[in-house]
This record gives sequence, structure tokens and C-alpha cells, in this order.
Amino acid sequence: MSERIFVGVAWPYANGPLHLGHIAGAYLPADIFARYHRLKGNDVLMVSGSDQHGAPITIRAEQESTTPQQIVSKYQEQFLRCWQELGISFDLFTTTGTANHAEVTHDIFLTLLDKGYLYRDKLLQAYCPRCQRFLPDRYVEGVCPHCDFPKARGDQCDECGKPLNPLDLKEARCYLCSTPPRFEFSEHFFLRLSAVQNELQAWAKEQSHWRPNVLGTTWRFLDEGLRDRAITRDIEWGVTVPQPGFEQKRIYVWFEAVSGYLSASKEWAKLHGDSAAWQPFWKKEAKGYYFVGKDNIFFHTIIWPAMLMGYGGLNLPYNVPANEFLTIEGKKLSTSRNWAVWLPDYLERYDADALRYFLAANMPETGDSDFSWRAFVGRNNGELVATYGNLAHRVLSFAYRNFDGVVPSPGELDGESQALLHKAEVTLGTVDNSLYRCNFREAIREALSLAQETNRYLDTQAPWKSIKHERPASAKSIYTALSLLSALKTVFYPFLPFSSEKLHKFLGFEGSVKEGSWILKFPVPGQKLEQPQPLFSKLDDSIVAHERSRLGSVSDW
Ligand code: MF3
Ligand code: ZN
Repeated sequence: MSERIFVGVAWPYANGPLHLGHIAGAYLPADIFARYHRLKGNDVLMVSGSDQHGAPITIRAEQESTTPQQIVSKYQEQFLRCWQELGISFDLFTTTGTANHAEVTHDIFLTLLDKGYLYRDKLLQAYCPRCQRFLPDRYVEGVCPHCDFPKARGDQCDECGKPLNPLDLKEARCYLCSTPPRFEFSEHFFLRLSAVQNELQAWAKEQSHWRPNVLGTTWRFLDEGLRDRAITRDIEWGVTVPQPGFEQKRIYVWFEAVSGYLSASKEWAKLHGDSAAWQPFWKKEAKGYYFVGKDNIFFHTIIWPAMLMGYGGLNLPYNVPANEFLTIEGKKLSTSRNWAVWLPDYLERYDADALRYFLAANMPETGDSDFSWRAFVGRNNGELVATYGNLAHRVLSFAYRNFDGVVPSPGELDGESQALLHKAEVTLGTVDNSLYRCNFREAIREALSLAQETNRYLDTQAPWKSIKHERPASAKSIYTALSLLSALKTVFYPFLPFSSEKLHKFLGFEGSVKEGSWILKFPVPGQKLEQPQPLFSKLDDSIVAHERSRLGSVSDW
């Protein structure tokens, strides 16, 4: 029976370009997972969009003396181009700036209000006397009360990851002008998190399939006891509050951003020509997976589930396979210091699949992991090119040259060939299993080991020798190796979609891998091969020093 899989991916703030931390943290694992499930024949809906509101956008607009709208339009376009080039296969990548999104957010807001999950109260808010404005949480900077990090922000501490209120900060100052703010009361709506504490705890107890880091973070918040949180703010840029007297206020960015999962699903359904098509992904036996970085766990295992519990009738997340962080050359990634590898910059010069390979093999699944140019070149040349690419090229060119450009007839298979084909079937099963459980590193390692196994097979069979005096033996080995390439193109497809599609064509198959299924499709003897091209390019060692020297300097992105 086919499954229904909803894949939600964290909504990137549209205030700057994407970098490798975003990709390794959320977008690549989500895409691998979605491609895998589609190939398994399951129904997948994968959505996200630009997070257009919130302080990160207005700060950026102020820095560049332009409007928030101009900033978000520019980055929405850039994001879409990046998804295309990196092969991140969203069913819809929208924005939080649509009328549909405001409508869905209002519906959630009003339903929660109606059911008693929202209430009005006074909120002490930071007001900067010099700038003469209320300060969004992120505009208040100060010392973290938990870890003493000196540059914590009023929404959370980027060092220890704890969510904060501006009032919690020690030595609070205005982010823009460094003046200490004064705190003034203003009327706001609060989400009654305290009311769902028990229900959330009972729910969290059932999530034994979650990653330890996700369970740990979630229980840390639950054990501390949930406090009600204000979900409106005195700001101008955001989704309006559907209540009289609140015309000058907006809904807090996180409340509406997580609502985006639902609004994007509804938008997708409308675009799909069936406005009810979102429902099967949100009701009954469908499973929702949310791919996010570890700094977003709280919002996906506490806030969004709490909102959904209050709203009623929709699925809570089934899993939130949050990743840890990616460091760059051993150091914490920092966008302000340009200690980052920017995705559009990478894509101008290197291949999408090479990056997908490296980040999948080094995914920060269970702890932080590192991107270094040395390791990137090493894995590209040593694994992607030497183990997989050369194997494919060797076998395809040999078959193309020596067997008239068609798949040769294998005759009777010997034990070694049968064993290898069996190993291919087994690998399809183990990779399947690993991907199902969101163990991406393990899955790609298993796929690569099948390529290694095939190389060993060819070394002992040596079809380039047998071709001279024992043509049928050579044909048998080559047929077997071509079948293995067909298995490899499938198990690698979720990770390396571009190369898998190429290999599919070189092997002489019709259509595309993505229209196929998760099975070993044998090439048919006589099937016409295509003139092969190398699948991957070797990278010169000199790029390591060059790319390293570009880190930390001024960025054009
Ligand atoms: N824009 C937020 C960030 O970059 C993520 C929002 S995820 C959502 O940290 F679920 F809230 F949309
Ligand atoms: Zn100020």
C-alpha cells in the first residue's frame, strides 16, 4: 500500500543568500527523503517558502536603505534558481507574503482564539527612546541570562539556543543605536502554551523514533514547564491581526511562519486544480516530516504541535529529523564575517551532485560536521570520481566499443556474477531501510559500497582480457556490470539525481529514473546504449588554497 508523506522544510528568511549550512541542515535531507519516497511509489507533498517577515528582513532593508518587499522579492527569485540548479524538488516553494497565507494564518488565529487558546494581556515591550519605536525582539541585544553570551538577541540566544524574551536579557541595548531601551506596556495576544503542557508531554512520550538530539531538546523545554508566549508585536511588517484595535500590530513571525506549512499545502492544492487535495496529507494515516536545523526544534516540536492541538483535526508532526550544524574549515559558520560557502557562488563554478554527495556523506545528523575544501576535493576525486564515476565510464565505454553499442547477452551466469546481482538486490533493501529511517549518511555509504563491490568484481573477472579469447565470458561480466550500474543509478538517485538520470540514458533506458520505481531494472540484451560521457569531473588540488583564501573576505553575495 502506498504511503502519504508530507515533507515540510524550514522556511528560509529571505534576507540573504543560502549557504551550505542551510543545505546540509534541512534542504538536502528533505529532498533526498522526498525523492526516495516518490520512487517508492508513495504520495509526497514537499513544501516550504520564503519567510518574508520578521526582524531579519527589516534589519536588512534598513541596512540597504530599501524596502522589505524589495529585499524579499530579490531573494525569493534567487532561492528558486538555487533549488532548480541544486535539484531541490519542491512541489511548492511559496512565500509568507501571499494573500492565501494571511488567510490561513487568520483562520488559525481565530480558531485558537475561539477555543480559548489565545488571550489578551499586557506585554512589556522594549521601546527605544532614541529611535522612537518599539523594538522587535531581535532588535534588542544583551547578555544571555543562561550562558552569559554577550550578544544574545531578544528572541533567542544563538550561543546556547534557548528562547528568550527581551526582558530576560542583562544589559539590554538597542541593536540599531546601542541605547538602553525602556520597557512599556502594550496590549497583545498570548498563546496558552501552559494549557497544552500535559497533552504535549503525553505526545512526546510516544516519539521513540525521534533522534536523540530532538527528543533531548524537546524534553528540556517540557521539563522546564511551558510559559505562555505573546504572538503579536508592535511592528509594521507582517501578517495583520484580525481583531479591532490591533491595526498597528502584526502577528509574530514564528506564529505565522509555521502556519506556512498548512497555507503552502492549501496553495499547492489550488494550483493543482483540486482545492481539497491538501487534506489527505494532513489527515489520518499520512505522516508529516519536518526537516529543520537544530535551532528550529522548539518551534516544530512544541509551538507548531501546540497550535495544531488547539486547532484540531490535523496531523501533528510524525518526525522532526533536525540536523546539527555544519562548520566550515573547522570553524563556526558566520554569515556576517563571511565565514560561509554561499550556494549561488558554489553553483556558478561546481557541480550540484558533487556538493550533494559531500553533504550527504558528511551530514550533521548526530553531531556537528565539517565542510572543508580539502575534504570536498578528496571525497569528490577519491569516491565520486574514482569509485563510482570511473566504474560507470569504464563499463559503458567498454560495452559501447566491444559489443556494437548494445547490451550484450549474458549467457549463463557464474556464481560470482549471481552473487553480485544478489548483493545489488540486498543493497536496494538496506538503502531503502536506512532512508526510511532518515539515516542519510548510512544510506549513501551502503550505496557506495555497492560500487566498490562492483569494482572488485570487475578486477577479478577482467572482461578486458577475456574479450580477446573468450567473448561470452566477457559478455557475461559486462552484462552483470551494466545491471549493477542500473542498480546504482537507483540507490544513488535520491542523492545524485542529475548523474542518475544521465546514467539511465547511457544505459539505453527510456524515460527517466524518477518515473521508475525502487527496483533493480535489468537492461535487456540488445538494448541500445548511448555514447557515454564521464558522470563526474575530477577537481584540481589547487582549488583548495584558492577557495580557502576567499573565506572570510568581502562577499559579493
Ligand atoms: N526563517 C526561520 C529561520 O531561518 C525558519 C522558519 S521555519 C518555520 O530560522 F517553520 F517557521 F517556517
Ligand atoms: Zn535605538
